[in-house]
Amino acid sequence: MVDGLLQVEGGRPLNGEITVRGAKNLVPKAMVAALLGTTPSVLHNVPLIRDVDVVSGLLSLHGVSVDYDQAEGVLRLDPSRVESAHMADIDAHAGSSRIPILFCGPLLHRLGEAFIPDLGGCRIGDRPIDFHLDILRAFGATVDKQPQGIRLTAPDGLRGTVIDLPYPSVGATEQTLLTAVRAEGLTELRGAAVEPEIMDLVDVLQKMGAIISVDTDRTIHVEGVDELVGYNHRALPDRIETASWASAALATHGDVFVHGAHQSDMTTFLNIFRKVGGAFDVREDGIRFYHPGGDLKSIVVETNVHPGFMTDWQQPLVVALTQAEGLSIVHETVYENRFGFTGALRKMGATIQVYRECLGGTACRFGQRNFYHSAVISGPTPLHGADIVVPDLRGGFSHLIAALAAEGTSHVEGVNLIDRGYEHFMSKLAALDADVTRLA
Ligand code: EPU
Repeated sequence: MVDGLLQVEGGRPLNGEITVRGAKNLVPKAMVAALLGTTPSVLHNVPLIRDVDVVSGLLSLHGVSVDYDQAEGVLRLDPSRVESAHMADIDAHAGSSRIPILFCGPLLHRLGEAFIPDLGGCRIGDRPIDFHLDILRAFGATVDKQPQGIRLTAPDGLRGTVIDLPYPSVGATEQTLLTAVRAEGLTELRGAAVEPEIMDLVDVLQKMGAIISVDTDRTIHVEGVDELVGYNHRALPDRIETASWASAALATHGDVFVHGAHQSDMTTFLNIFRKVGGAFDVREDGIRFYHPGGDLKSIVVETNVHPGFMTDWQQPLVVALTQAEGLSIVHETVYENRFGFTGALRKMGATIQVYRECLGGTACRFGQRNFYHSAVISGPTPLHGADIVVPDLRGGFSHLIAALAAEGTSHVEGVNLIDRGYEHFMSKLAALDADVTRLA
């Protein structure tokens, strides 16, 4: 049995206030960046989520002293005694996280070697690491695949290079940045991802002494430097968590004020939220999301890299779309297999059909392949409680929203996966007046 079982009595609006802290998709990367400094770094607004735990453990294994004040959200990282760690320890510690791959560049600079265990992450597609390995090879690393994982070496250091990404991958862009900043000479990265979390990482690296410029055509130039120092930085707020609570408010006819939410990183989400019929008020200290009454409206939306509609916003929104009048189309163009979670929604009464074709309007790279990456949602359909199993982080939160919106009792199993990216979600649900009990 998967850990973490919740009983949810649904059919009540979520009402109240919660706080979001730093972004799950920035904080672990900023923590890895601390490895590059010769002096300690301080990161603020750090949420208590499992990915932070995993990276803290991995940093400790590599000799970094980690001091986390959970209440204040302040993390102090001292990398003055970085050392190699044993493969078996890294493997045991990494769990299902994909972050170890981002340790490679910094460790190659510091120690001349790095090891990547078998990588996990959410099961939302193949999630290959070919871009990462190609990038590290381009910088001059030797990649040696062994039974326990992959060992990389660069005894003579890494040199700047030209990289042309086949797709604007977030991780591959971060890999390039974390490696290029200390590589000898110039690096040019074409086709880079420019997500706000990446720009925040650029800010972190610039504070450390890096020289990085981002052009309007997704090209990033990095001028390698000989030394980087520690940073003092406040992580940008988590725009995925914010959007998740927004969709939860909409799906349950609720009213949720999200302290700490930022408008500027969420423009695309807010437009779609409004088109569906949701309302929001932007204030200095956060954003209020609510169902203003009346019918929700169906939409056509495609996920895409920034500044498009994020793939991670898709799943919670689909739950709200089951309550919209008419046919909605969601075309997933970032991951080939991110509609697995809709099975549980169907079990709860939703009418959702998934297709191999590109239905959103733009042909994407998954179009002529065997991937069910477009969904048609027909609504409104009342949802009823059911026993469901969480498939992955975002799909899991969507199941939780569906259970909260549904009439009757649901049992949601495997909610420990949700801890990876949603800080204190149980106490936040309590603050929003949800009727949720942890059974295991
Ligand atoms: N890809 C490859 N080869 C690679 C790397 C990626 O083909 O070597 C493909 C992927 O399979 C995918 C696409 O490129 O189809 C985009 O993947 P990307 O590298 O951009 O994703 P990531 O860096 O692995 C991060 C977030 C994800 C988020 C994506 C897209 C972290 C830790 N993860 O993943 O977040 O969905 O960017 O924005 O930052 C989540 O938070 O639930 C989550 C999955």
